[in-house]
Amino acid sequence: MPGSASSHPEAVRSASRPASLDLLEAHVASLPPEPIPGVPAATTPTSGRPDPADAQPLVPKPDQQAPESVSPTGSPTGAPPRSRAQSGAVLTTSVGLPLRDTDHSLKAGARGPSLLQDHHLREKITHFDHERIPERVVHARGAGAHGTFVSYGSAANLSRASFLAADVETPVFVRFSTVLGSRGSADTVRDTRGFATKFYTDEGVFDLVGNNMPVFFIQDGIKFPDIVHAAKPHPDREIPQAQSAHDTFWDFVSLHTEATHHVMWAMSDRAIPRSYRMMEGFGVHTFRLINADGDTALVKFHWKPLLGVHSLVWEEAQMLAGFDPDFHRRDLADSIEAGAFPQYELGVQVMPDSEDQTFEGIDLLDPTKIVPEELAPVQPIGMLTLTGNPTNFFAETEQIAFHLGNLVPGIDVTNDPLLQARLFSYLDTQLTRLGGPNFNQLPINRAQSPVNDMLRDGMHQTAVHEGIAPYQPNSLDGGLPFSTGTSGAGFIEAPQPVTGAKVRQAPASFDDHFSQPRLFWLSLSDVEKQHLVDAFTFELSKCYEKPIRQRQLSVLANVDPDLVARVAAGLGMPAPAAEYEPAEVEPSPALSQLGQSWPTDGRVVGLLAGPGSSLLDVAAVQQALNGAGMTCLVIAPVGGELEGDGVTVTVQRSLATARSVELDALIISDGAAGSPPDPRLMVMVTELLRHCKAIVGWGSAADLLTAAGCPPDAAGVVITSDAAEIAQPLQHALAQHRAWERMPTGG
Ligand code: HEM
Repeated sequence: MPGSASSHPEAVRSASRPASLDLLEAHVASLPPEPIPGVPAATTPTSGRPDPADAQPLVPKPDQQAPESVSPTGSPTGAPPRSRAQSGAVLTTSVGLPLRDTDHSLKAGARGPSLLQDHHLREKITHFDHERIPERVVHARGAGAHGTFVSYGSAANLSRASFLAADVETPVFVRFSTVLGSRGSADTVRDTRGFATKFYTDEGVFDLVGNNMPVFFIQDGIKFPDIVHAAKPHPDREIPQAQSAHDTFWDFVSLHTEATHHVMWAMSDRAIPRSYRMMEGFGVHTFRLINADGDTALVKFHWKPLLGVHSLVWEEAQMLAGFDPDFHRRDLADSIEAGAFPQYELGVQVMPDSEDQTFEGIDLLDPTKIVPEELAPVQPIGMLTLTGNPTNFFAETEQIAFHLGNLVPGIDVTNDPLLQARLFSYLDTQLTRLGGPNFNQLPINRAQSPVNDMLRDGMHQTAVHEGIAPYQPNSLDGGLPFSTGTSGAGFIEAPQPVTGAKVRQAPASFDDHFSQPRLFWLSLSDVEKQHLVDAFTFELSKCYEKPIRQRQLSVLANVDPDLVARVAAGLGMPAPAAEYEPAEVEPSPALSQLGQSWPTDGRVVGLLAGPGSSLLDVAAVQQALNGAGMTCLVIAPVGGELEGDGVTVTVQRSLATARSVELDALIISDGAAGSPPDPRLMVMVTELLRHCKAIVGWGSAADLLTAAGCPPDAAGVVITSDAAEIAQPLQHALAQHRAWERMPTGG
């Protein structure tokens, strides 16, 4: 985090220690202005009109990265990534013709009609008319970042993939997404999140296209159009947007009970993450790894965020959808800009590649099943660090094209029927979305290793292929390109025996739809269970048709009697009896998000300052928190600067722009709240209380809490006598994410 005053703990004590006041004033005044993420451009504009005589070349913002400069066929060009950007200070057409005027079309007289001759008008408008491309059919809403993956080498005995050898550093681009909403939908809706990673390895591109939930709604890809049609908005009115709280979704999942496990995850806190930085990722399917000796193992991929797995509360998620629909993409970009780089450890659960492809009775080809971590621990194999924001959203985040068939030697697929259909779907959809077959030549999709395919021509071909014999075998191009044959360098599908009649059938083990939903339910803490009950109650209450609500209650009855009783009570409906005996399952504590302490990097803390606050204290607290890796936003009655005590404090949020939902915690400085307090402050405090967020303060802060009806002994609320004492209780509270003790549970 840039800027630091954490090495000056004595600073925060100033107001109560007049002897050190002069020294402290001088120190705080000498600190650089606090950088708050969100800066729009690399240079600060003047308030006047820019003058061409002062033109300077554009510079990227320090937090931005761009795809490596490689040719369409993967050769390093040696040019800086920025060389693809526009150049020169003069406005030109797309082919470099300098332009004198872009404000007036060419007309027959100043009041006359525009002339067809106006090539500049036509080019400008025509290009604009075609600026949009189809959004993704699912996962349309996303945000991305550049980064690196450093391998520990611990998977080298499992896979011969070169990027998994010890200490190999591989560039990556990650795209996080929601599933259901359109490109412009809100970030914080209740939904599964995509977690897709493109590794630019020296053996070609490897894509790990996962989600933040380890299971899926369907067992066979042929059902994907059905689940997506059911979950997307109703086709007549096109509502509701980006959510499952409507009749067609519940109609489908209540009839298609293999969805139950994913539905449980989707109704849990996992579906409303606090941040992309605080989400797990899962490859979902079982993959097959092959080592240098040809030995195989079955694995499931996991991404574990170093900041822990944390969620919003439902009311907060709903409020954010209005207050800041870009909450997650802003959080990702801001934290990278602030240097709080998101990190995730990649791990694998390793299972023997047995003939029946089951492990401890769990069918590894069934994507509605997990392998509990207690049965197969996640073994760490490398670290992903996101270090750069995209330079251009469209060129990178929108045009990136993931594909499960982007594999490298040492990583292979299994017969999971969902995975098999995905192998077809991504390539197919991208032909339309990206306008032709050459989308892998887009800068963000280019391999960073040699490409020598025999694919030729097509729309938007940007490679200039040499030779005349793009076929095999040939002699005219000297036989190029040669396949690796048995040299060992190429991709080899692990030879697997296949038997059986040609049938449209699933294995009998796929019929178990309720044991793992029950395992998930029983593994949650009381607070998490309550959230799940609340989510089911909310969503089913949004179902117009009572028979659908009834049907879904019958499904829940097969999961757990307590769960169905509580949801039914909320709906004001009788709880149906179970059709099957509840399964005997062992809970998996690893599935709960609660119960540990986590780093507080990049947490957003509001610092309330007012006319009565000591600005010395306020400045010192802000410096200390930012220095400790958090983002501390000063909130004051109006915007601008606060001046006094020899320091100037920039206000980041006025009471007109600040809302509790953008904060993880609030600090109330002594003298911040007037008497009586501004009603907006009371709203802020009551929301923070309801959402179980930490509130700390010093001095008269207690008066505001009393006025807002906060019980003096509320968990996660600490008032100290002195500013110097607040950092420790704040950090302690933030490390647990929320004071869940404040949340009532029915468990
Ligand atoms: C385990 C199950 C699945 C997971 C984890 C998953 C994950 C994802 C993710 C993360 C994306 C967004 C990629 C991006 O950021 O560009 C995506 C897009 C997509 N997925 Fe899936 N998906 C799953 C199942 C399926 C199935 C079964 C199909 C079809 C048979 C499918 C078809 C698509 C399509 C068409 C896109 C849009 C791709 C594009 O336009 O580039 N997905 N999926």
